[in-house]
Amino acid sequence: MKKLILLYKVVQPDVLALLKEHFEVAEFDGLAAATRPDFLAALARAQGLIGMYGRIDAGFIAAAPRLQAVSTVSVGYDAIDLAALNARGILLCNTPDVLTETTADTAFLLLLGVARRVAELAQWLKDGHWQRPVGAAQYGVDVHGKTLGIVGMGRIGGAVARRAALGFGMRVLYTARSPKPQLEQELGAQWRELDALLGESDFVCVLAPLTAQTRHLIGAEQLARMKPEAFLINAARGAVVDERALIDALQRRRIAGAGLDVFEQEPLPPQSPLLAMPNVLALPHVGSATRETRHAMELCAAHNLIDALAGRRPRYLVNPQVLEAAATASPTRSETPSPR
Ligand code: DGY
Repeated sequence: MKKLILLYKVVQPDVLALLKEHFEVAEFDGLAAATRPDFLAALARAQGLIGMYGRIDAGFIAAAPRLQAVSTVSVGYDAIDLAALNARGILLCNTPDVLTETTADTAFLLLLGVARRVAELAQWLKDGHWQRPVGAAQYGVDVHGKTLGIVGMGRIGGAVARRAALGFGMRVLYTARSPKPQLEQELGAQWRELDALLGESDFVCVLAPLTAQTRHLIGAEQLARMKPEAFLINAARGAVVDERALIDALQRRRIAGAGLDVFEQEPLPPQSPLLAMPNVLALPHVGSATRETRHAMELCAAHNLIDALAGRRPRYLVNPQVLEAAATASPTRSETPSPR
């Protein structure tokens, strides 16, 4: 008999077909349905969960007594209570790698967009203001040759650094938990303490995952260390930046502007002061949102879940200690790696 999984995202037809080949699938189009009786009934029976967006907290996990694996269609898993999954021995899988280049593209488009005032000038033109050649009031600032500070040099940070150094001749500074000798050699990137990076950079790009340690990593004190002509880019998670402090810094012109794909509250409320600021380029969390990449993420998450529920080690497993504990408790359990 096929295992039951609860799918809480609309996925592309081939991905749905793949899931149906392996599982009985209870389909929902988001966690907004999570209070509905049919959702709760499926959750109570589900052995796997797959989807994107929305909070999966301890209460939600408690309502799924048969759950063995959660496969998120995202690299970030800050909305999922990992401790609650670990306590129950439930596997968590995510989708890094396939979204690295697309998310780096988004971070870089925010950087170029704020520097050259793309959204503002496009609107200016649409509003009929182009009556004579542009002047100083419409000028932006150069990107090439400037200094980019990357806060959180993981996979996406590395991809942004390559674009900056190789494509735009930028000097790259970074913070990371450990030095990145390969990027230093390849791109001339230099490690800095956060405060030094903030003070030296023309563009500060936040790419650190949201954890208890990185929540509000960039607050009023850090924003005050930035140059007044510098821009902040956030393509990671909203809460890595203290949004109230950012709004204050922008209103006081403590920094030149911001390019934001993520916010502390998503969807961003339409009345947010950020949306009224001409020097803010705001996007609706589209870092990885291209057709190709979202398809690759869905496929990756589907394979993760298929492997996890078949007793194979999924390719992208967040909590391998759960498998190791299970193997110690029951040495006969298969732990073959995924063949892919
Ligand atoms: C991710 O993969 O974490 C993206 O931000 C989508 O949520």
